[in-house]
Amino acid sequence: MAIEWDGPTGCFLLTGGGFSYAFAVDRAGTPLRHLHWGGPIGPDDLAAIADPATRLGSNTWSRPRAHTEELVVHGGTRFDECVLKVEFRDGVRALDLAYQGADATGDRLAVRLRDRHRPLAVTLYYEVRGSALCRWLEVTNAGEEPLVLDRAGSAGWVLPWQERPRVTTLSGGYAAESRVTRGDLVPGRLVLESRRGIPGHAHQPWLAVDGGAGEEHGEVWSIAVAHSGSWKLVAELSGDGRVHVVAGLNDFDLRHELAPGARAVLPETVGVYAPDGYDELTARWHRYEREHVLPRPDELRPVLYNSWEATFFDVRHDDQVDLARQAAGLGVELFVVDDGWFVGRTGEGAGLGDWSADPAKLPDGLARLSAAVREQGMRFGVWVEPESVSPASELFRNHPDWIYRWPDREPHRIRESYGLDFGLPAVREWAVETLDHLVREAGVDFLKWDLNRSLVDQGSRGEGTVWLDHVAGFHEVVDRLREAHPGLWLETCASGGGRADLASLARFELAWPSDNTDALERLDIQEGYAFVHSPQTMSCWVTDSPGHLTRRSVPLRFRFHVAMTGMLGVGGNLTAWSPRERAEAAGYVAQYKEIRETVQLGRLHRLGSPRHGERFALCYVAADGAQVAIFVFARAVRQNTQDRPVRLRGLDEAAGYEDPATGRRYSGAFLRYHGLPVALAGDHASELIVLRRTDHRPR
Ligand code: DGJ
Repeated sequence: MAIEWDGPTGCFLLTGGGFSYAFAVDRAGTPLRHLHWGGPIGPDDLAAIADPATRLGSNTWSRPRAHTEELVVHGGTRFDECVLKVEFRDGVRALDLAYQGADATGDRLAVRLRDRHRPLAVTLYYEVRGSALCRWLEVTNAGEEPLVLDRAGSAGWVLPWQERPRVTTLSGGYAAESRVTRGDLVPGRLVLESRRGIPGHAHQPWLAVDGGAGEEHGEVWSIAVAHSGSWKLVAELSGDGRVHVVAGLNDFDLRHELAPGARAVLPETVGVYAPDGYDELTARWHRYEREHVLPRPDELRPVLYNSWEATFFDVRHDDQVDLARQAAGLGVELFVVDDGWFVGRTGEGAGLGDWSADPAKLPDGLARLSAAVREQGMRFGVWVEPESVSPASELFRNHPDWIYRWPDREPHRIRESYGLDFGLPAVREWAVETLDHLVREAGVDFLKWDLNRSLVDQGSRGEGTVWLDHVAGFHEVVDRLREAHPGLWLETCASGGGRADLASLARFELAWPSDNTDALERLDIQEGYAFVHSPQTMSCWVTDSPGHLTRRSVPLRFRFHVAMTGMLGVGGNLTAWSPRERAEAAGYVAQYKEIRETVQLGRLHRLGSPRHGERFALCYVAADGAQVAIFVFARAVRQNTQDRPVRLRGLDEAAGYEDPATGRRYSGAFLRYHGLPVALAGDHASELIVLRRTDHRPR
């Protein structure tokens, strides 16, 4: 990894694992010219791409063109999508930035710009992290009057010209999150965003662009916004085929006032390039998360039980202990009591804010339940929703001024609750103290942190940065809690997959990708989630059949196999399962423990997709290559596809592989080019085959 600065050409060259990124100080004064993002190039190549003549093009284009500029701001003759727009006190809304200098420390480069007319400084940050490049901005008001940021993106990402650019997004909605969606980019702007104060369910804050790539071929460029609030990605395709992506905060209702001397550090955006297809792109994102984002990246995630779909709000001590006993019998390692355990929480309408056990449901308190769970040899976790408050709660009665509201109207209730203003220091203190007390007193090892509302009615403090303050408060409370309780594990959730961004995943060991636990639908949701996020963070529960959302009946085997492709959990009403079902389930849990290191920390290869046809497979190869776990799924098996072999990827062609269950032996080359024989029959058919690499290679 390297950051190089070439004086004569004025070029900066950043090189990471498998990519290069280059730009130059522009003598034409724009002030920085973008040169390259893609496969690795060397310092000797810079002279050839650093031709100082900026092609301005026709008068009908934006001048300079967005794809020639490293940072597009609002001002001058620019009409392309901009990253930054500022309004000065006297109404001037144009920026005219000039290059000031640059400093490199380790893998980080800071490039300083300053407005030619006003006391405003902008620093562009670049940091090479393995095969990812992180970019963000810092804006400083160096003047004596306040100014307002109307648009405060973090970076513009320029992609090389493509004959026919396509975009891939991870899109959907509540209970249908993160579906891989691919199509042509058409001239104009594609806007992906959340305006909700949380990243939301409509899209992961991520997109990828290619010019016709597949799993194993073709270049792909992808960009994520690492922000736990409202974000925006605008992919702009000009009429002559140039793609420029503006990434960062959403400017929806943004009025970010910067007081004299104040600085705004904007969220990180992350760019990952892959030279040969989506398989490698996914591997690079997983590596990035494991090496630079996740807490405890090398620790195996436990098998979890969650009570939500078993008892919903009706949490009772004896029922939970019964469930815990059954869960322990299955081999579960962490037992989590979901919503419904705290004072007054009989449904959605009450209780949020009063985080102590409901004596009517848990007469001996939470500590007693925790002890009962631990007696079964499991860790104990509970559900919380600290950022919401019920109107019928003691917290709201005592602090009606702690919620988001405009001064002259009733605040809006979402899922019967109000939003707590996490920008207020007093609210942050309350949250840290309350959660700290809960964890300490009740013996809690794990918190599922949920948020079941969007943030609205931002008028409480009259500031345009209120949602940024909220995100900062959310992060601060989680960080302080983690610091006080180094053994605590956390799961991020917002009505399912509404908050699984990179900034949250930097603080949470796992994420709840969706409330939809129907195994068939989970195949699509999990494909999208694991497209970018490491499977060790992908919490998957086996629930009852028929499922409570879709009423679809799916065999236990299929449900387990689907959940075993991430972090396995169980979320069914175990006391209603038959002894035979429980014994079968215990077998799957035991098998999962044998392969979980491969699934959670190995390399994932998609062999087909639930989007294409009824049958596909997922292949996980252990980091040391010694174990391979292959899951094959078929929604329905047709007569002529029953015995189709599954061609594997990621294996050593020169090695031998053995299936200990059958004693069959294969060569890596056979598995790659001919394929693993797998016979499936019926509906919702699935198979898990585990191979072991051997020294012996069949001839
Ligand atoms: C939404 C979550 O996604 C569910 O798993 C569950 O925790 C409910 N909230 C509880 O209210």
